[in-house]
This record gives sequence, C-alpha cells and structure tokens, in this order.
Amino acid sequence: MKTAESIQEIREQVNNLKSKGKKVAFVPTMGALHDGHLSLIRMAHKHADAIVVSIYVNPEQFAPHEDFGTYPRTIEADLKLCKEENVDVVFMPDTETMYGSGKKYFSIDIEELNVHLDGGSRPGYFQGIALVVNKLFNIVNPDIAVFGQKDYQQFRIIEQMVKEFNHPVELLMAPIGRAEDGLALSSRNAYLSQEERALAPSLYRALTYVAQQIENGVMEPALLISHQQEELEAKGFENDYLSVYSLDTLQPVDKLSTENKYVLAIAAYLGKTRLIDNLILEI
Ligand code: PAJ
Repeated sequence: MKTAESIQEIREQVNNLKSKGKKVAFVPTMGALHDGHLSLIRMAHKHADAIVVSIYVNPEQFAPHEDFGTYPRTIEADLKLCKEENVDVVFMPDTETMYGSGKKYFSIDIEELNVHLDGGSRPGYFQGIALVVNKLFNIVNPDIAVFGQKDYQQFRIIEQMVKEFNHPVELLMAPIGRAEDGLALSSRNAYLSQEERALAPSLYRALTYVAQQIENGVMEPALLISHQQEELEAKGFENDYLSVYSLDTLQPVDKLSTENKYVLAIAAYLGKTRLIDNLILEI
C-alpha cells in the first residue's frame, strides 16, 4: 500500500494505476475508521480494480463551536486497516495542501437540498463538504466514488453536485453499517459514555418503529413521530429532527403517497454527542 501527502504524489499514483488500465474507486473519509468505512472499501473493491482512500479532517465542515479539535484522529490504526483491506493508495493531505494560505474568493452555495435535516441544523456544514469533495474529486480524479447512506443528505448533495458540475465520476451508495444492537457506526460514537452507549440504540429502535408503522399503512405519521420524540426525550435524548423527507428533494413531507420515495431521518443529542440515522422507506 502506498501513501501520498501531496497533490502531485496522489495524481502520479492515480495516473499510474489508470495507465495500467485499472478502474479507480475513491472512498473519502475523515479517518477514525470503523466497520462502516470498511464496508465502503469492500463495496469499492466489487466495482473497481484499485482503491484510493483519503483521510482528512476537513476544517471547513466544522462550525467554530463544533468538535474539529477533538475529532478522533487514529492515523496509525487507520493505515493498518486500509492495508488489511487491500487499499492501493491512502491520500492524507494537510490543510496547507488542501486549502493553501491565500485569500479564497469562491464558495459553493447549495439551495433547497441544504435547508432541512443537517443542513438546517448545521449552517455551513454542507458547503464545507461540497467544497472539499469538489477539490478531492479534482485532485484524485477517480472513476467511481463511494459514500455511505449513513449521511444520506451528504450523498444526495454530492450526487447533485456531480451532475451540475459535470464531474466524470460514478457514485455508489453503501448501506448503513450497524453495531449488533442496531446503532449506526460512527467515529463520534467514541464520545459516548458507557451509559450513553447503552441508551444510544433507542434512536434506531424509534426509527424502525416509525418506519414499520408507515410501511403498514400510516400515511400521515406526525402524531406517531411526536410520540416517539417524547419517549426519546424521556430517556434523555435531546431531539433535533425526526421526519419523513422526499428522497429526491429532501423537503419534509406530512402526507405520504405510494407514488413517491422517502427517507425517514433522525438526529438527536445524547449528552454532547450528536447522533444521526435514517431508513429509506419501502411503501
Ligand atoms: P466520514 O464521517 O469519515 O465518513 C466517510 C464515509 O463513510 C461517508 O461516505 C459516510 O457516509 C460513510 N459512513 C460513515 N459511517 C457509516 C456507516 N455506519 N455505514 C456506512 N457508511 C458510513 O463523511 C465524511 O467523513 C466527510 O463529510 C467527507 C465526505 C470525507 C468529506 O470531508
């Protein structure tokens, strides 16, 4: 396995792989790799001949009050995992490499797709993600890129960005990797105390309960949802959102129809840790 820190190095590595006729898949991450990330790498192997993983904690997607400083950084363990998963190249740039030091004149504006869910709760978050992924696509120039359904809004925004900016990359979405008790795997789960970790799967249980009721025919789930939110509050969660959104436009929907596709998404705080999860509804 090779590593690359500069743009020139990663471009050379990718050109080298492509010159051998290899199809290159890219898995961008912020490190602190867990089984969820590894499932993306495994999916990438099924669709490509060579895998590039990036590990970069992108400061542009953290608000000043958020956890950029304390975000888990486990580079040695990450490199070991990448090696075990037969990754070809790990790109690990620093911020000077990614952003340089001069004044910046451009940013990426995102319209309706960024109004609800995490876009509504975390101003600037998806602009920071769109910016870094745009740069990473231009730097790495992969044939395929894999993202997780865990961050469905991120996938949808990047999908639209690829379409509107004509990035020559095919996107794949990997299913959510979960712990045995249902909790969606996340680098941030490392922040949970033992007590919080025991409570955390309630989020997934609330989500699956609402999804089942909808799939059994409840087409106006507002009341059902507010009951679940009350129960989560009683257990110690602080709710951010729990709602059904159009899979395509990410607008909230009160009355469902079998004609359309939806995602049921949740975000809540447990202590200081923000947890998110979602299910794509089958109705
Ligand atoms: P990060 O949170 O490290 O996640 C990297 C990729 O792994 C994302 O596509 C995310 O959706 C996926 N992922 C995380 N947990 C998952 C799980 N439990 N199951 C399936 N996939 C999971 O997302 C980011 O980094 C950043 O925003 C990034 C795209 C790298 C831009 O900085």
